[in-house]
Amino acid sequence: MRNILLKIIILRFNFEIMFRNYTCGELRLSNLNQEVILAGWVQSSRNLGGMTFIDLRDRYGITQIVFNMEDDENLCLAARKLGREFVIQVKGTVLERSSKNLNRPTGEIEIKAKELNLLNASETPPFTIEDESDGGDELRMKYRYLDIRRNPVKEKLLFRHQVSLETRKYLSDLHFTEIETPYLIKSTPEGARDFVVPSRMNQGQFYALPQSPQTFKQILMVAGMDRYFQIVRCFRDEDLRADRQPEFTQIDCEMAFVNREDILSTFEGLMKHLFKTILKIDLPDFQRMSYDDAMHHYGSDKPDLRFDMKIQYLNSAMQNKGFVVFDSAELVAGIVCKAAAEKYTNKDINDLTEWVKRPQMGAKGLVYIKYNLDGTIKSSIGKFFSDEALQQLAIEYGIEKGDMFLILAGDKDKTIKQCGELRLEMAKRLDIISKDVFSAFWVVDFPLLEWDDDAQRFFAMHHPFTSPLPQDLEKLKSNDREILKSIRAAAYDMVINGAEVGGGSIRIHDRALQSQNFKLLGFSEKEAEEQFGFLLGAFEYGAPPHGGIAFGLDRVCAIMQGSTSIRDYIAFPKNNQGRDTMIDSPSTLDQKQMTELGIKIS
Ligand code: AMO
Repeated sequence: MRNILLKIIILRFNFEIMFRNYTCGELRLSNLNQEVILAGWVQSSRNLGGMTFIDLRDRYGITQIVFNMEDDENLCLAARKLGREFVIQVKGTVLERSSKNLNRPTGEIEIKAKELNLLNASETPPFTIEDESDGGDELRMKYRYLDIRRNPVKEKLLFRHQVSLETRKYLSDLHFTEIETPYLIKSTPEGARDFVVPSRMNQGQFYALPQSPQTFKQILMVAGMDRYFQIVRCFRDEDLRADRQPEFTQIDCEMAFVNREDILSTFEGLMKHLFKTILKIDLPDFQRMSYDDAMHHYGSDKPDLRFDMKIQYLNSAMQNKGFVVFDSAELVAGIVCKAAAEKYTNKDINDLTEWVKRPQMGAKGLVYIKYNLDGTIKSSIGKFFSDEALQQLAIEYGIEKGDMFLILAGDKDKTIKQCGELRLEMAKRLDIISKDVFSAFWVVDFPLLEWDDDAQRFFAMHHPFTSPLPQDLEKLKSNDREILKSIRAAAYDMVINGAEVGGGSIRIHDRALQSQNFKLLGFSEKEAEEQFGFLLGAFEYGAPPHGGIAFGLDRVCAIMQGSTSIRDYIAFPKNNQGRDTMIDSPSTLDQKQMTELGIKIS
């Protein structure tokens, strides 16, 4: 096929030619009768008797090219031989189209071709390169270069570029300096699992890829850099989800001589700037919510506040009425779904019951009470609660006719989290989340420490460098686990539409306090020294008070465009098994490389 074409088409290709003087997205009626050169990919072609039409695509758009048998038979025959995704150059004249396509910016004109150069042939692509492709996920990942030619993917990458650019502008204007930190660093057991890289020159030793540049940015504050940022790749070997990739990008920032307010206002400003300049949306001032309130009302430290549906606490109303499931539970709690009683069928309730019982959720069952519009009540606990008692419950909890109560019972912490997940699920199932609303706010006052029953030790909820709130400093001296659990951290997360887009804290800048914190986290002095001696050492040379934050750039992009998946905002993402199917990675090493690296597999 390719050879025939090369024979038919006179290839005037040499390295001096101008490939194009316009893009496929820019010609309009105002360019009428101009002689133009375009280059791009053949999106589609149609033969209509004496005419052949080609849709020519490049990054900027699509322009129709017309070849007329009467004008130039050879050229028209050559055009008919072009396949999808062939790369061509066309010279011609801009004409007004007789039948206009007003859905396309260039749809009022077409190019009457005078010359056609084949720049490269193409195999038939394995899926259609159109907005709605017929290719499945895996296939599109394998041929990512073809997928990126599609508008929806390409536009997401362009959007990401805009977010990075506006971030750089905003931060540079505030005197932040972009500084690169190393990718080959040291493994530490805290946080997620590290990706490690064997060292050939130091056999038996390994670098780790950074989970974040946390310690480096703190050291840059000790170094006097004052305001740092970096749009930086981070690596975490953790299980993947729609909003998690093993390598992802942070907008990583740190500031010296600041308090929490300075940081919150600087980065609330960043988010407002991005929304304003890119989406033309003015975000209102961000609310602040304590971690305790977020958990109590919404069962989540990143609640979606685009809808209300707060958790209702029902112990006093529903216990000791003879229903053993409730009586034996530490907590009875539920959510009220407005106007759902009539919409929600028995089958819907059964599906939902199966959903709450899945191992990921782990609830034992689900109780419903429907307050029908006609005033009757239907409930799965009718045997234990009279209609009057359930009416009373409705009055107490402000429930109206048409509403439905969904109730869970069990261990307190688990039940609260389950209610939080049920809340989100019901909002989705009832389709009550408005797509074009943004709810952005701060969650503050996280606990400093999290007790792990399996490991029988505390872990840092944010990371080990986070400072306690000054008013809770005294509690650090306690040996009482409950008191230690109640220490609040000077940590904050930015939450938008139920996703944590960023998080940070005021750091400990005092060596003694940092050592004390390591001790609480179960590090011996020797371990703390081995793993973080460089930071503790730096703290001995005049560390200024400092704090910072990091945003997930991929997440910020996805949230701004109302998407739940970050994958398409990454040019070459990994699949759910952490594989890049295009380059087929990870892969085995050959024996020579393994020997050089001193790696033996038994
Ligand atoms: P943290 O671990 O909260 O904080 O990460 C900051 C932000 O990075 C994003 N993020 C991810 N995005 C995609 N895939 C992942 N696997 C992933 N993991 C995290 C989230 C998150 O809010 N050094 C601290 C920040 C600091 O204290 O300054 C840190 O890394 O949007």
